[in-house]
Amino acid sequence: MKLVRTVHELRAWRTARTGSTIGFVPTMGYLHAGHLALVRRARAENDEVVVSIFVNPLQFGPHEDYERYPRDLARDLRLLEPEGVELVFAPPVEEMYPPGFATAVEVRGPLAERLEGAARPGHFRGVATVVTRLLNLVQPHRAYFGWKDAQQVLVVRRVVQDLALPVEIVAVPTVREADGLAMSSRNVYLSADERAAAAALPRALFAALARFQEGERDAEVLRQLVHAALAQTPVRLDYVSVSDRETFQELAQVDRPALLLVAAWVGTTRLIDNVPLDPVPA
Ligand code: PAJ
Repeated sequence: MKLVRTVHELRAWRTARTGSTIGFVPTMGYLHAGHLALVRRARAENDEVVVSIFVNPLQFGPHEDYERYPRDLARDLRLLEPEGVELVFAPPVEEMYPPGFATAVEVRGPLAERLEGAARPGHFRGVATVVTRLLNLVQPHRAYFGWKDAQQVLVVRRVVQDLALPVEIVAVPTVREADGLAMSSRNVYLSADERAAAAALPRALFAALARFQEGERDAEVLRQLVHAALAQTPVRLDYVSVSDRETFQELAQVDRPALLLVAAWVGTTRLIDNVPLDPVPA
Protein backbone atom coordinates (compact mmCIF):
# COMPACT_ATOMS: atom_id res chain seq x y z
CA MET A 1 0.00 0.00 0.00
CA LYS A 2 1.48 3.30 -1.12
CA LEU A 3 0.83 6.59 0.66
CA VAL A 4 1.03 9.79 -1.37
CA ARG A 5 0.53 13.35 -0.19
CA THR A 6 0.84 15.44 -3.32
CA VAL A 7 -1.12 15.90 -6.52
CA HIS A 8 2.13 15.40 -8.44
CA GLU A 9 2.73 11.92 -6.93
CA LEU A 10 -0.92 10.94 -7.41
CA ARG A 11 -0.83 11.93 -11.08
CA ALA A 12 2.43 10.00 -11.60
CA TRP A 13 0.84 6.88 -10.05
CA ARG A 14 -2.31 7.26 -12.15
CA THR A 15 -0.49 7.89 -15.43
CA ALA A 16 1.36 4.60 -15.04
CA ARG A 17 -1.98 2.73 -14.86
CA THR A 18 -3.68 2.40 -18.21
CA GLY A 19 -5.09 -1.12 -18.48
CA SER A 20 -6.55 -1.65 -15.00
CA THR A 21 -9.92 -0.62 -13.57
CA ILE A 22 -9.75 1.68 -10.58
CA GLY A 23 -12.20 1.90 -7.69
CA PHE A 24 -12.10 5.03 -5.53
CA VAL A 25 -13.34 5.59 -1.97
CA PRO A 26 -13.22 9.24 -0.84
CA THR A 27 -13.24 9.69 2.96
CA MET A 28 -12.43 12.20 5.67
CA GLY A 29 -10.59 9.51 7.64
CA TYR A 30 -11.03 8.27 11.20
CA LEU A 31 -12.17 5.12 9.47
CA HIS A 32 -14.75 2.65 10.75
CA ALA A 33 -16.55 -0.44 9.45
CA GLY A 34 -18.83 1.73 7.28
CA HIS A 35 -15.84 3.07 5.34
CA LEU A 36 -14.37 -0.44 5.14
CA ALA A 37 -17.59 -1.76 3.56
CA LEU A 38 -17.03 0.76 0.75
CA VAL A 39 -13.38 -0.32 0.43
CA ARG A 40 -14.35 -4.02 0.25
CA ARG A 41 -16.95 -3.37 -2.40
CA ALA A 42 -14.38 -1.38 -4.40
CA ARG A 43 -11.84 -4.19 -3.89
CA ALA A 44 -14.32 -6.78 -5.21
CA GLU A 45 -15.25 -4.80 -8.32
CA ASN A 46 -11.95 -3.28 -9.52
CA ASP A 47 -8.31 -4.18 -10.22
CA GLU A 48 -6.96 -1.40 -7.99
CA VAL A 49 -8.38 0.57 -5.08
CA VAL A 50 -7.59 4.17 -4.13
CA VAL A 51 -8.73 5.67 -0.81
CA SER A 52 -8.49 9.39 -0.11
CA ILE A 53 -8.31 10.80 3.40
CA PHE A 54 -8.95 14.53 3.52
CA VAL A 55 -10.94 16.54 6.05
CA ASN A 56 -12.37 19.04 3.59
CA PRO A 57 -12.59 22.53 5.10
CA LEU A 58 -14.95 23.72 2.31
CA GLN A 59 -17.81 21.51 3.48
CA PHE A 60 -17.82 22.71 7.11
CA GLY A 61 -19.73 25.79 8.22
CA PRO A 62 -17.91 28.50 10.23
CA HIS A 63 -19.35 27.22 13.54
CA GLU A 64 -19.08 23.52 12.75
CA ASP A 65 -16.56 20.90 13.90
CA TYR A 66 -13.74 21.27 11.30
CA GLU A 67 -11.08 21.93 13.95
CA ARG A 68 -12.08 19.13 16.28
CA TYR A 69 -13.03 16.58 13.61
CA PRO A 70 -11.15 13.36 14.61
CA ARG A 71 -7.92 12.70 12.70
CA ASP A 72 -5.54 9.73 13.06
CA LEU A 73 -3.70 8.84 9.85
CA ALA A 74 -1.56 6.08 11.44
CA ARG A 75 -4.71 4.33 12.68
CA ASP A 76 -6.41 4.72 9.29
CA LEU A 77 -3.41 3.21 7.49
CA ARG A 78 -3.42 0.24 9.90
CA LEU A 79 -7.11 -0.36 9.10
CA LEU A 80 -6.56 -0.09 5.33
CA GLU A 81 -3.41 -2.22 5.13
CA PRO A 82 -5.20 -5.63 5.33
CA GLU A 83 -7.88 -4.52 2.82
CA GLY A 84 -5.71 -4.76 -0.28
CA VAL A 85 -5.72 -1.03 -1.04
CA GLU A 86 -3.09 0.04 -3.62
CA LEU A 87 -2.97 3.75 -2.91
CA VAL A 88 -3.89 6.14 -0.10
CA PHE A 89 -4.03 9.82 -1.04
CA ALA A 90 -3.82 12.00 2.08
CA PRO A 91 -3.06 15.54 0.92
CA PRO A 92 -2.52 18.59 3.10
CA VAL A 93 -5.02 21.42 2.55
CA GLU A 94 -2.58 23.40 0.33
CA GLU A 95 -2.41 20.49 -2.14
CA MET A 96 -6.19 20.38 -2.54
CA TYR A 97 -6.67 24.15 -2.45
CA PRO A 98 -3.49 25.86 -3.63
CA PRO A 99 -3.21 29.65 -3.46
CA GLY A 100 -5.56 31.19 -6.02
CA PHE A 101 -8.07 28.33 -5.93
CA ALA A 102 -11.38 30.03 -6.82
CA THR A 103 -13.79 27.54 -8.42
CA ALA A 104 -16.88 25.98 -6.85
CA VAL A 105 -19.28 23.30 -8.04
CA GLU A 106 -22.85 24.08 -7.04
CA VAL A 107 -25.92 21.90 -7.43
CA ARG A 108 -29.13 23.94 -7.44
CA GLY A 109 -32.67 22.93 -6.52
CA PRO A 110 -34.27 20.87 -3.74
CA LEU A 111 -31.72 18.09 -4.02
CA ALA A 112 -28.98 20.27 -2.55
CA GLU A 113 -31.07 22.96 -0.86
CA ARG A 114 -33.42 20.97 1.40
CA LEU A 115 -32.67 19.07 4.62
CA GLU A 116 -28.86 18.91 5.02
CA GLY A 117 -28.54 21.69 2.44
CA ALA A 118 -30.85 23.94 4.49
CA ALA A 119 -29.33 22.97 7.84
CA ARG A 120 -25.75 23.38 6.58
CA PRO A 121 -25.53 26.26 4.06
CA GLY A 122 -22.62 25.73 1.67
CA HIS A 123 -22.10 22.12 2.76
CA PHE A 124 -23.00 20.50 -0.55
CA ARG A 125 -21.06 23.14 -2.50
CA GLY A 126 -18.01 22.04 -0.50
CA VAL A 127 -18.76 18.36 -1.06
CA ALA A 128 -19.45 18.77 -4.80
CA THR A 129 -16.29 20.84 -5.27
CA VAL A 130 -13.93 18.47 -3.44
CA VAL A 131 -15.47 15.35 -5.00
CA THR A 132 -15.18 16.82 -8.51
CA ARG A 133 -11.53 17.68 -7.92
CA LEU A 134 -10.81 14.25 -6.42
CA LEU A 135 -12.55 12.44 -9.29
CA ASN A 136 -10.53 14.45 -11.81
CA LEU A 137 -7.29 13.66 -9.98
CA VAL A 138 -7.88 9.92 -9.42
CA GLN A 139 -9.86 9.31 -12.64
CA PRO A 140 -11.47 6.14 -11.28
CA HIS A 141 -13.85 3.90 -13.19
CA ARG A 142 -16.10 3.62 -10.14
CA ALA A 143 -16.43 5.72 -6.97
CA TYR A 144 -18.08 4.42 -3.79
CA PHE A 145 -20.36 6.36 -1.44
CA GLY A 146 -22.48 5.33 1.56
CA TRP A 147 -26.30 5.54 1.69
CA LYS A 148 -25.74 6.76 5.27
CA ASP A 149 -25.30 10.17 3.60
CA ALA A 150 -28.12 9.65 1.13
CA GLN A 151 -28.45 13.27 0.04
CA GLN A 152 -24.70 13.36 -0.65
CA VAL A 153 -25.02 10.29 -2.92
CA LEU A 154 -27.71 12.02 -4.96
CA VAL A 155 -25.84 15.33 -5.10
CA VAL A 156 -22.70 13.53 -6.34
CA ARG A 157 -24.72 11.58 -8.94
CA ARG A 158 -26.21 14.87 -10.14
CA VAL A 159 -22.75 16.44 -10.53
CA VAL A 160 -21.42 13.40 -12.40
CA GLN A 161 -24.37 13.42 -14.77
CA ASP A 162 -24.47 17.19 -15.31
CA LEU A 163 -20.71 17.60 -15.82
CA ALA A 164 -20.47 14.34 -17.81
CA LEU A 165 -17.75 12.94 -15.55
CA PRO A 166 -16.72 9.50 -16.83
CA VAL A 167 -17.27 7.56 -13.59
CA GLU A 168 -19.90 5.22 -12.15
CA ILE A 169 -21.18 6.17 -8.69
CA VAL A 170 -21.85 3.08 -6.56
CA ALA A 171 -23.94 3.48 -3.37
CA VAL A 172 -23.40 1.06 -0.47
CA PRO A 173 -25.94 0.29 2.32
CA THR A 174 -25.45 1.80 5.78
CA VAL A 175 -23.34 -0.21 8.25
CA ARG A 176 -24.69 -0.09 11.81
CA GLU A 177 -23.48 -0.83 15.33
CA ALA A 178 -25.07 -3.78 17.17
CA ASP A 179 -27.78 -1.50 18.64
CA GLY A 180 -28.62 -0.03 15.25
CA LEU A 181 -26.75 3.29 15.46
CA ALA A 182 -25.29 4.14 12.04
CA MET A 183 -21.51 4.10 12.18
CA SER A 184 -20.02 7.58 11.93
CA SER A 185 -16.66 9.18 12.68
CA ARG A 186 -18.66 11.72 14.71
CA ASN A 187 -19.96 9.05 17.13
CA VAL A 188 -16.71 9.56 19.11
CA TYR A 189 -18.11 12.92 20.23
CA LEU A 190 -20.84 11.13 22.24
CA SER A 191 -20.41 10.58 25.98
CA ALA A 192 -21.31 7.08 27.27
CA ASP A 193 -24.81 8.27 28.26
CA GLU A 194 -25.34 10.06 24.95
CA ARG A 195 -24.09 7.02 23.04
CA ALA A 196 -26.65 4.82 24.81
CA ALA A 197 -29.44 7.36 24.19
CA ALA A 198 -28.52 7.71 20.50
CA ALA A 199 -29.82 4.21 19.75
CA ALA A 200 -33.34 5.68 20.03
CA LEU A 201 -32.77 7.34 16.63
CA PRO A 202 -32.47 4.14 14.54
CA ARG A 203 -35.15 2.52 16.72
CA ALA A 204 -37.56 5.29 15.76
CA LEU A 205 -36.66 4.92 12.07
CA PHE A 206 -37.09 1.16 12.14
CA ALA A 207 -40.42 1.42 13.98
CA ALA A 208 -41.71 3.70 11.21
CA LEU A 209 -40.21 1.39 8.56
CA ALA A 210 -42.09 -1.55 10.10
CA ARG A 211 -45.36 0.40 9.80
CA PHE A 212 -44.51 1.22 6.19
CA GLN A 213 -43.90 -2.48 5.51
CA GLU A 214 -47.31 -3.25 7.06
CA GLY A 215 -48.84 -1.01 4.40
CA GLU A 216 -48.82 2.56 5.77
CA ARG A 217 -48.30 4.94 2.83
CA ASP A 218 -49.24 8.27 4.46
CA ALA A 219 -45.95 10.15 4.85
CA GLU A 220 -47.30 12.35 7.65
CA VAL A 221 -48.21 9.27 9.71
CA LEU A 222 -44.65 7.96 9.27
CA ARG A 223 -43.13 11.32 10.22
CA GLN A 224 -45.35 11.54 13.31
CA LEU A 225 -44.32 8.03 14.35
CA VAL A 226 -40.69 9.13 14.41
CA HIS A 227 -41.57 12.26 16.42
CA ALA A 228 -43.59 10.19 18.92
CA ALA A 229 -40.87 7.56 19.31
CA LEU A 230 -38.31 10.24 20.21
CA ALA A 231 -40.54 12.47 22.35
CA GLN A 232 -39.51 10.97 25.71
CA THR A 233 -35.81 10.56 24.82
CA PRO A 234 -32.77 12.88 24.96
CA VAL A 235 -32.68 12.80 21.12
CA ARG A 236 -33.86 16.18 19.76
CA LEU A 237 -35.09 15.98 16.17
CA ASP A 238 -33.82 18.60 13.74
CA TYR A 239 -35.93 17.25 10.87
CA VAL A 240 -37.78 14.15 9.80
CA SER A 241 -38.58 13.82 6.13
CA VAL A 242 -40.12 11.44 3.64
CA SER A 243 -38.42 12.40 0.40
CA ASP A 244 -38.51 11.17 -3.18
CA ARG A 245 -35.29 9.20 -3.68
CA GLU A 246 -34.47 10.96 -6.94
CA THR A 247 -35.62 14.56 -6.66
CA PHE A 248 -35.63 14.96 -2.87
CA GLN A 249 -39.11 16.52 -2.97
CA GLU A 250 -41.11 15.97 0.23
CA LEU A 251 -43.83 13.36 -0.35
CA ALA A 252 -47.39 13.19 1.00
CA GLN A 253 -47.83 9.58 -0.12
CA VAL A 254 -45.08 6.98 -0.45
CA ASP A 255 -46.06 5.89 -3.95
CA ARG A 256 -42.52 5.69 -5.37
CA PRO A 257 -39.01 4.88 -4.06
CA ALA A 258 -38.42 7.18 -1.10
CA LEU A 259 -36.23 7.76 1.92
CA LEU A 260 -37.26 8.33 5.52
CA LEU A 261 -34.55 10.73 6.72
CA VAL A 262 -33.75 12.22 10.10
CA ALA A 263 -31.26 14.61 11.60
CA ALA A 264 -31.10 14.95 15.37
CA TRP A 265 -29.05 16.36 18.19
CA VAL A 266 -27.79 14.25 21.06
CA GLY A 267 -26.13 16.73 23.40
CA THR A 268 -23.98 18.87 21.11
CA THR A 269 -23.54 16.16 18.47
CA ARG A 270 -25.60 16.20 15.30
CA LEU A 271 -26.43 12.79 13.83
CA ILE A 272 -28.11 11.88 10.53
CA ASP A 273 -29.67 8.60 9.46
CA ASN A 274 -32.17 7.25 6.96
CA VAL A 275 -33.89 4.10 5.75
CA PRO A 276 -35.12 3.35 2.22
CA LEU A 277 -38.88 3.04 1.64
CA ASP A 278 -39.56 0.76 -1.33
CA PRO A 279 -43.22 0.49 -2.22
CA VAL A 280 -43.68 -2.69 -4.25
CA PRO A 281 -46.68 -2.34 -6.56
CA ALA A 282 -49.41 -4.83 -5.53
P1 PAJ B 1 -16.91 10.54 5.46
O1 PAJ B 1 -17.92 11.04 6.41
O2 PAJ B 1 -15.55 10.15 5.95
O3 PAJ B 1 -17.55 9.32 4.70
C1 PAJ B 1 -16.86 8.71 3.62
C2 PAJ B 1 -17.83 7.76 2.94
O4 PAJ B 1 -18.20 6.73 3.87
C3 PAJ B 1 -19.13 8.47 2.52
O5 PAJ B 1 -19.52 8.02 1.23
C4 PAJ B 1 -20.11 8.02 3.60
O6 PAJ B 1 -21.46 8.01 3.17
C5 PAJ B 1 -19.61 6.62 3.89
N1 PAJ B 1 -20.07 6.17 5.20
C6 PAJ B 1 -19.94 6.82 6.38
N2 PAJ B 1 -20.55 6.12 7.37
C7 PAJ B 1 -21.07 5.01 6.80
C8 PAJ B 1 -21.81 3.89 7.29
N3 PAJ B 1 -22.16 3.78 8.57
N4 PAJ B 1 -22.19 2.93 6.41
C9 PAJ B 1 -21.86 3.04 5.08
N5 PAJ B 1 -21.14 4.07 4.58
C10 PAJ B 1 -20.77 5.04 5.41
O7 PAJ B 1 -18.75 11.69 3.40
C11 PAJ B 1 -17.63 12.18 3.50
O8 PAJ B 1 -16.65 11.65 4.30
C12 PAJ B 1 -17.22 13.43 2.74
O9 PAJ B 1 -18.35 14.23 2.54
C13 PAJ B 1 -16.52 13.12 1.39
C14 PAJ B 1 -17.46 12.36 0.43
C15 PAJ B 1 -15.23 12.33 1.60
C16 PAJ B 1 -16.15 14.47 0.70
O10 PAJ B 1 -15.33 15.22 1.52
